[in-house]
Amino acid sequence: MIAASHSLPAAWLEPLALTGDKALPNHIVPGPMEGVTEGSFCDVFSRHELVRCWITPFIRVSTGVPRRVRLRRRIQPFLDTGLPIIVQLMGLDTERLSETARRLAEMGVAGVDLNCACPAPLVLRNGAGGVRLQHPEWIRRALCELREACPNCGVSVKLRTGFESPSEFSRIADAVRGTGVDFVILHFRTVRELYRPVSDGCQRLTHARDLLPETTLLGSGDLFSVEAALRMYRDARLDGVAPARGMLKEPSLLRKIEDACCGRKDAPAVSRIAMLRDIAAGSGRSDAAYNGFVIKLAGWFFGRDSDLFRQVVACGSLARTVAFLRELTDG
Ligand SMILES: Cc1cc2nc3c(=O)[nH]c(=O)nc-3n(C[C@H](O)[C@H](O)[C@H](O)COP(=O)(O)O)c2cc1C
Repeated sequence: MIAASHSLPAAWLEPLALTGDKALPNHIVPGPMEGVTEGSFCDVFSRHELVRCWITPFIRVSTGVPRRVRLRRRIQPFLDTGLPIIVQLMGLDTERLSETARRLAEMGVAGVDLNCACPAPLVLRNGAGGVRLQHPEWIRRALCELREACPNCGVSVKLRTGFESPSEFSRIADAVRGTGVDFVILHFRTVRELYRPVSDGCQRLTHARDLLPETTLLGSGDLFSVEAALRMYRDARLDGVAPARGMLKEPSLLRKIEDACCGRKDAPAVSRIAMLRDIAAGSGRSDAAYNGFVIKLAGWFFGRDSDLFRQVVACGSLARTVAFLRELTDG
């Protein structure tokens, strides 16, 4: 049933059921962001109850199956949030991917997600991520093998609409159909389009909806506001959304989308400066690499051409950044 034009469907607030009695709390999930949704970022967003689950950024499975201790170390910060987590994998060798997924399932993750979307040049040179879209038969095999390896947890896939052109999507959809995936996250751009503006994003999602009527389909791409989620729902009747960069401009975005599903105004008011302060202060680390992470986040939060970004860069150390952000929020 189509919801009233001013609202999002209440069904988005229902648990997203995964195989093996697992579930995500609802159909509004944070999109993974490598180098961003990591460590204390996740801790702070979780403590403020701005998200209900996590999808980790991709773990590369290349030369071998990662050892259990390495996998554990990688996913521990996500497990520590106490929220259900889906661990994203990227690779070429379906046997290694499946064995990695099996190990993760033993560690109690809610699901594993296969990255067939990443457009980063290094990833593409290795034939992984978005390149996999050029090999739909590989996607089918990989998903079937993951499904077999993980009979008691979720299996999902992150896609773009094609490598060169969205016209490739019908073959990709054929490959996904019938594999038993619990859900698909679809970013409407092609790999070649990177993050450039496209004018027909919602139409592409509508086409995908028609091709995958039985699949739980979450939309991704330019979800910077509740209105953008509403447009996606109205046009494409998707089952949910996975906003990514929008969380960095509006930390309460996922909660605001939830509010629009039930006509309430419960989303907590949190400022980006306070979030950055807590992320900077809360890691227990003080090294230059961590300050680099905080500077990178400041770029995402405030824009690299903002005065605030320049001021954070000028702080020159984590301790001074924390003191500066405290002054701004306490004053
Ligand atoms: C810095 C950054 C890192 C990302 N890392 C990942 C990743 O590890 N795995 C993935 O599937 N998508 C990744 N993405 C893609 C996002 O999850 C999302 O699909 C994309 O940004 C479009 O959504 P948005 O316009 O709401 O940001 C990343 C995006 C950004 C900006």
